[in-house]
Parts: sequence; C-alpha cells; structure tokens
Amino acid sequence: MKSFYITTAIDYVNGSPHLGHAYEKVLTDVIARFRRQQGDQVHFLTGVDEHGQKVQASAKRKGMPPQQFCDEVSAEFRALLPRLNITNDDFIRTTEERHQRVVRKILQELFDRGEIYQAEYQGFYSTRQEQFLQEKDRLPDGTWPEIFGEVTEITESNYFFKLRQYQDWLIDHLTKHEDFIFPRYRQKQVLEFLKEPLNDLCISRPRERLEWGIPLPFDANYVTYVWFDALLNYYSAVADHPGGWPATWHVIGKDILVPPHAVYWPIMLHAAKLPLPGGIIAHGWWMQRGAKMSKSTGNALNPLDLVTEFGADAFRYFLMREMNVGQDSDFTREQFLVRYNSELANNLGNLVNRTLNMTTRFAAGVLPAAEVTEDLERSLQELWEKTRNEFIPLCEGFQFHTALERAMFFLTETNAYIEKRAPWKLGKSTTPTDQALLRTSLATMAEALRLAVALIQHVTPTATEKINAVLGYKPGTVWLEELNWGQRLVGSPVAATLVLFPRPLPPAPATV
Ligand code: MSP
Repeated sequence: MKSFYITTAIDYVNGSPHLGHAYEKVLTDVIARFRRQQGDQVHFLTGVDEHGQKVQASAKRKGMPPQQFCDEVSAEFRALLPRLNITNDDFIRTTEERHQRVVRKILQELFDRGEIYQAEYQGFYSTRQEQFLQEKDRLPDGTWPEIFGEVTEITESNYFFKLRQYQDWLIDHLTKHEDFIFPRYRQKQVLEFLKEPLNDLCISRPRERLEWGIPLPFDANYVTYVWFDALLNYYSAVADHPGGWPATWHVIGKDILVPPHAVYWPIMLHAAKLPLPGGIIAHGWWMQRGAKMSKSTGNALNPLDLVTEFGADAFRYFLMREMNVGQDSDFTREQFLVRYNSELANNLGNLVNRTLNMTTRFAAGVLPAAEVTEDLERSLQELWEKTRNEFIPLCEGFQFHTALERAMFFLTETNAYIEKRAPWKLGKSTTPTDQALLRTSLATMAEALRLAVALIQHVTPTATEKINAVLGYKPGTVWLEELNWGQRLVGSPVAATLVLFPRPLPPAPATV
C-alpha cells in the first residue's frame, strides 16, 4: 500500500473558525478520501496553532490564562471537523508535549551544529503578522500595507537561523522539482522571490515581550518565533511513527506560501537533515464583497450556519464545485442557492425521486434487469465511460470544480434519457417490447444514479451513503470496480422516497 500523508495549515486560535478555515479542511478531506478510496494508506493531520502574541493578547483581553483560552477556542475548531464530515486521523495542538519536545530537540540540534546564532536586531515589527518587516515591504508612499496592522520599530537581541546560506540550494531544488508547488504558477512566484537575497530568519522572542511560546532549549530567556514552532507541527505529529515523515502534500492558503512554507520550511528540513515533503498545494481565498474573508475584516461567515441550514454535503459540494483550487472565489448566498437548487435539488435530487417513484410504481419496488440496449442506452453508457475516464485524472490534478461539472453533466443527461424513454408512457402499454423497455429504463436510471454517486462520494459522502441505502445497495471495497457499468442492482428492493436536498424556504420578508 502506498502511504499518503496530507496536512492542513494549523489555525490560529485567536478567533472562531470561519468559512476560509472550513474550506481548507474540506479540500484536504476530499483529497484524503479520494486517495483512501484508491487504496492508499492515508494519514490526515490537522490542528491548531496556539502560541504567539495574538493568542496571548486575545487571552488577556478575555481575562483568561492563555492555556485555558486555547483549550476553549481549540475545542471549537475541533468540534467543526465532524460537522463537516472531515476524516482526519490526528489533531495536533502546538501546546502539546509531543510537539514541544520535538521543537526543542530540533532547535538544540541546529544550535549544536552552528545553524543558529545570536545577534542584535533593529527593525520594524508587525504584531499582527508577527514578523519583522523589510524596507521592500513598504508601499510606494512609505507607509506599511494594511495587512501588517500596527508597525513599530524595535531593537533587541535575538536568535537567528542561517537561512541565507541555503538560498542556492533551494533555488536548485525548486528548479529540479517543477511540481513542488501547486498550482505551478505559484512556483514561479517563489523563484521570483528568491531572486532577492534572503535574510537569516529571526526565530526567537525575548520572554519579557512574549511569554506564550516554547522556551529555547539553549536559552531560557527566549521563546521560539511563531513560524519555527508552527511549521514543525507537520513533523512532530509523526516523529514517533517510523515511516511517518515526509508528508506527501501540505495544503495551505496562498497567504502563507511565501516565505513560510515555500522558503523557511524546506530550508529548515534540509538543515535538520530531514526529507522534504512531496509538495505544497496553495489554495486561494474565499472573498466577500471583494475582500478576503477574515475575522479582522469582519466579513467572516460562520460555516456552521450553512451546514446547519443545508447539510454538510451541500456545503462541501458547493466549496469544491465553485472554487478552482489556487484561485480566489467570491462567496455569495445567491450563488450557493443557485448551485444547491439546480445541481443538487433538481439534478441529483430529481433523479433519486424518479428512480424511487417509478421503481415503486412500475416494478413493485424491486429493480429489474436491463434487457435491451438501444441507442439511448448505448450513448448514456458511453457518456458514463467518458465521464469516469475524465473525472479521475481531474481529481488527481486537484481540478475538482471541473470534475464535478462533468459528473453533473452526466446526471443531466441521465435525466434527459428518462425524458426520452418516458417510462410513464411505457407503463401504459402492455406490449412485451414496451414492457422490456420499461424495465430497461428503470434499471438504466438506477445504475446511472449508483455510478454517479459512487463517483462523487469523496465530496458528498453522506448523500452517497443514503442513496446506496435507498437503492438497497452495499458497495464493494474496491472503489474503481464500483465504477464499472453493470447490473449490480438487479433484484434490489428500493425505498419509496428519500428527501435529500429539501428546497430551502425563500428568505423571510424583512420585518419593518
Ligand atoms: N497559524 C498559521 C498557519 C501555520 S501553518 C504551519 C495561520 N493560521 S490562520 O488561522 O490565519 O489560517 C489558517 C489557514 O486558513 C491558512 O492556510 C489560510 O490561508 C486559510 N484561510 C484563512 N482565511 C482564508 C480565506 N478567506 N479563504 C481561504 N482560506 C483562508 O495562517
């Protein structure tokens, strides 16, 4: 079995989870489920980033000790996962002993080998981003971009990791591994960034300024800088499992690609003599009203509201169908409703209803065998072959939005097949030919439905399970074999109804 280790970014716990956080979990889960059903031995890690100034400040504002604050907010992040049907195997918190132990061990090793040194530092510092800024970060008018929040000038002695000496090595690695970053155009951006000389990385904060961090093993007056602590979670979670490291993919948002994941992380691993991950998937942002959805902008949507209203499958489906991985997408309720109504309720929901109703009405609720293959059946089966053969490589290339579009097209054509065959007319005729066609049409629509929901099961696991149940079907263990058109449902007793995607009520008129 091929092992496949996939991670999400670990979320800051200074606020509640929003739609952007939920998207990353769903995207990673869809990839993890897809690999699992292809037979890979998947390990899926997610978690929370609990140290740093922001968390310390948020805890203080609430009048709570930081650990208690982290316990509360982390519980909220963790509770979101089952609501989204996320199949993570592990959840890491950076305050856990298993993580702190590994961070300290690696820091000590690097210090012993002379990869870390102490120096005086003077510079501009962004509290919001928890990073020192450079002159090139300024806007043309000399001010700092808004994302940095308040910027102050400070002087202090700190520890530095020798990043610069690995710059050529990293350029070489990226040049030789063109697929290290997905989408590929982002890899070019990294190489562009590496045209400027790198500065060594400040990895510490004096304890009097930041209490809430992992103490440096070689100087207890300092704690680790946020990225050195956070990035190592991917390794610390599996450090005790032989064969656990390296990760196959890290899934992150584009805002934390350059420099943390694409520059610091590979260099940290290389310096620590650890293998590099297979690659990094950098997704885009969910926006609202033209701005990145975020807590600080105040335009964040609570994913739980949508999941409560429409169910986890509809939420997962929308996120995967709407977003081209890597690009940004605007979230609007209108667009959510359009896809929900036309693709899930109408297209898929109607096929389910028709299959169940007509089998109940014309075949006493037991699925018959297909007896004839005429042009209509033949072309639907050909479309199925084509859909499946395109869908799998699209998912392998993270093109879920296009893959789902193909799956939807197959459902549309299956509904069109039903219109053309018109079983309700055939049911009125008693000729043996029409009766054979009637049975064929019932078998064909049910088989097409079974196949379509098997195809998209990594996106809509609950709907697939429910549809299999009402079709009286127990899928086999080999996913690819499930995708062959056959006569698997013959003799299956079907349920009379299933309401999968109830039509949402129109919004209540505003009360004055
Ligand atoms: N703690 C760091 C990551 C450390 S990883 C070793 C962090 N946390 S975060 O809470 O700010 O963001 C967590 C993830 O959510 C990031 O990958 C980020 O890109 C993603 N998103 C946050 N807002 C987002 C959107 N509006 N849209 C999509 N994803 C975005 O960064």
